[in-house]
Amino acid sequence: MDLDRIDLTDSELYRRGFPHDLFTTLRAEAPVWRHPETAGFEQTGGRGFWVLSRYSEIRDVNRTPELFLSCSGPGLGYEGMGLMLTDMDGAPHIRQRKLISSGFTPRMTRRLEDLARQWAVSIIEDALAREQVEFVQDVAYKLPMHMIADILGIPLADRDWLFKMTNDMLLCIDPEHPVPESERQALATEIFAYGHRIAAEKRANPSDDVLSLLVTVEDEAGRLNDLELDAFFMLLTVAGSETTRNAISAGLKALLAEPEQLEALRRDPGLQKSATEEILRFSSPVAYFKRIAAEDTTIAGVPIAKGERVTLWYPSANRDGAFFEDPARFDIRRTNNEHVAFGGGGPHFCLGAHLARREITIFFEELLKRTNRIELAGDVRYSVLGIGNPLLVSIGQMPVRLKAA
Ligand code: HEM
Repeated sequence: MDLDRIDLTDSELYRRGFPHDLFTTLRAEAPVWRHPETAGFEQTGGRGFWVLSRYSEIRDVNRTPELFLSCSGPGLGYEGMGLMLTDMDGAPHIRQRKLISSGFTPRMTRRLEDLARQWAVSIIEDALAREQVEFVQDVAYKLPMHMIADILGIPLADRDWLFKMTNDMLLCIDPEHPVPESERQALATEIFAYGHRIAAEKRANPSDDVLSLLVTVEDEAGRLNDLELDAFFMLLTVAGSETTRNAISAGLKALLAEPEQLEALRRDPGLQKSATEEILRFSSPVAYFKRIAAEDTTIAGVPIAKGERVTLWYPSANRDGAFFEDPARFDIRRTNNEHVAFGGGGPHFCLGAHLARREITIFFEELLKRTNRIELAGDVRYSVLGIGNPLLVSIGQMPVRLKAA
């Protein structure tokens, strides 16, 4: 394959999911690769960027935060404003992360797990009553959406409206469905304003959710300010819902393609722990995260100049044959599965990793317990969010037929 002809900014590349074959070539031939200036380059701000595809470099960059900064945000399509955890470095990042983590007390985490099971059961029962469902919208979307909404204390009546806006905002970036930047900004402003209102209500009338805890937690530098709370609200609605939804959809798709494994999992729920890790490795819902080189440096011998953008392609690292045996095979019994779906273990390691793991586990436990047949009822279609968005591509539609046990 001619490397100069590879164009990661071309949305067509992702219409059938993440282009694993292309990344197998990159890992073998150019593991530290500078993206050429292609037609779609403008979507990335018109500046160059490096593409890392191998496990070892991605993990090393993740674990060298003083050299590879997060301050300009994770996406290629925008510059971070330094307010969200994902756009911060050093001491301010550590401080905000510590304060936010303190909202997830063991008691709160247990409560969230109980809620996850209740939601999973009711969502699956609803689907069973209908027999055939549009799995992404009717099922996979709902569990993470309700969990994030429970964390933020969003009233039931507002949930579909809020998450539809979040979805529309993400889809705006797809060049296939161009929407004026002003419209995307308007949606972002509305989500911010809503988050702001909710946080103000929690201050006045705290209740039993994480956001209520976060408006009161403080350290020697004080409480999280309004802007920090608004940014956290925005980050969670995006970071915690689409990612987990895609892991659940892609997990079911992978299991349906391997009926022996699906039946083994149904017979032996003890396999669920390793199955969840394999679903995460195999689906890797975050396509890439971006870093900025703090000074002139090298990665695997390739010189990288100060200020250059470096992207870490997690789905590619998770299929690296130097690290995983038979990496293209989905195997729920896989051991030593140290995937990087949640990042490579640096200070930005996914804050919701525990919750996401529990949601996926609980969902499949309840689904397999309550069904005796599940099958695809049509074509799987992908939604392409565009190179500007670190999620880039996810399963958009997956018709599924289910039969109750
Ligand atoms: C399968 C589901 C999920 C996947 C694959 C995922 C993946 C990731 C990745 C790759 C990162 C960046 C890691 C890095 O830069 O080193 C991240 C960060 C983050 N995730 Fe997740 N995530 C998921 C679910 C969630 C959930 C459910 C929540 C919230 C409850 C969440 C909240 C966050 C936050 C707040 C950050 C930023 C942390 C920081 O910058 O310090 N994520 N996630």
